[in-house]
Amino acid sequence: MSEKRIGFGLLGAGLIAPFHAKALQASEQTELVAVADMNAERLEKFTADFGCAGYASLDEMLADPAVEAVNVLTPNHLHRDAVLGAARAGRHVLVEKPPSMLLAELDEMAAAGREAGVHIGVVLQCRTRQAIQAMRDAIREGRFGKIYHADTYMKWFRSSDYYRTDAWRMSRRSGAGVTIQQAFHYIDLLQYLVGPVSKVHGRMNNLAHPGIEIEDTLLAFVDYANGAQGVVQALTALWPVTDIRIEINGENGTAIMAGERIETWKFRDERPEDDEIRQYGSGAVSTGATGAADLGFHDHQVVIEDLVSAIESGRDPMITLESVRPTLEWALAMYQSAKDGAPVALPLEDEEAVW
Ligand SMILES: NC(=O)c1ccc[n+]([C@@H]2O[C@H](COP(=O)([O-])OP(=O)(O)OC[C@H]3O[C@@H](n4cnc5c(N)ncnc54)[C@H](O)[C@@H]3O)[C@@H](O)[C@H]2O)c1
Repeated sequence: MSEKRIGFGLLGAGLIAPFHAKALQASEQTELVAVADMNAERLEKFTADFGCAGYASLDEMLADPAVEAVNVLTPNHLHRDAVLGAARAGRHVLVEKPPSMLLAELDEMAAAGREAGVHIGVVLQCRTRQAIQAMRDAIREGRFGKIYHADTYMKWFRSSDYYRTDAWRMSRRSGAGVTIQQAFHYIDLLQYLVGPVSKVHGRMNNLAHPGIEIEDTLLAFVDYANGAQGVVQALTALWPVTDIRIEINGENGTAIMAGERIETWKFRDERPEDDEIRQYGSGAVSTGATGAADLGFHDHQVVIEDLVSAIESGRDPMITLESVRPTLEWALAMYQSAKDGAPVALPLEDEEAVW
């Protein structure tokens, strides 16, 4: 483990910021140095809670030499400007998901990171779960044989009050819909495990949040490039909630993650390590089903410490912008398909038309 402590500054003192702050303070490799938020009240409370410096803007925070890395925790449609600003000021960056609302912006951010010689990682912390890593290993080892189906089911609840806490949460173009906001994690897991995708047919509705301009329901059929098929079903309209599910079915095996726990792990070639893998995930870790703040910070800490290790060793972070590009393209294609009422083949022809 590294001895060096890297100084981090948070841009945004909103809902997710305390999870980053706790992870930074819990890690021996990192130090929470500063936070910046244009909302003076939030800034004051946050600096009092976590004992760090406070700034009113990113530029002011970037003038602080103790800030070596910036975690971008602003609303989704504002990530681009912040990532470009921090990278061009020579700071490493961790950007919350989704990294951007357009592929062109993602490419721009990746290019800025390369030009500045800084590392940019994305907070898609579910990739780090033991259950997901076990599924990925099993796929790489060919244990499923031909993969027939790869699905995710996210049957969650968000209240209308949650959406009304901020203007950006009520606007699809700001990235508040269930597809790009909550389900993005699980679309990303399917992409990470079984992607890329060749065609999607999506349908979106607002079932339970009248007057709020978002989709709270996504249903999509998916064709993967490797011949597998799948379903994405994601809602923030259902009560009571159930654990998210990632299901992979192949000719020689099935693996299912529920929440962060392995629920089913069965292969024709049963191996000695399989019993241990079946115990992965405690089932006691909150994964965000009931509310946006219904989370632990452990997975964030893993992503943050991975960035530190990438900075020190010169390797890429575990979750690069480039690795998230196909996830974003898939999400955008589902929006396009829902709008057209027809299947959409990838690559996406005109991403500007999506929004
Ligand atoms: N990884 C996860 O599991 C997870 C969970 C929740 C949220 N998120 C992501 O975190 C990000 C933030 O979400 P949130 O719910 O905390 O949002 P939020 O609205 O609660 O907080 C955003 C904060 O950014 C501040 N802000 C906006 N523009 C700014 C600017 N230009 N300069 C300074 N401050 C600015 C706002 O004042 C606000 O306090 C989003 O990208 C969201 O998708 C990730």
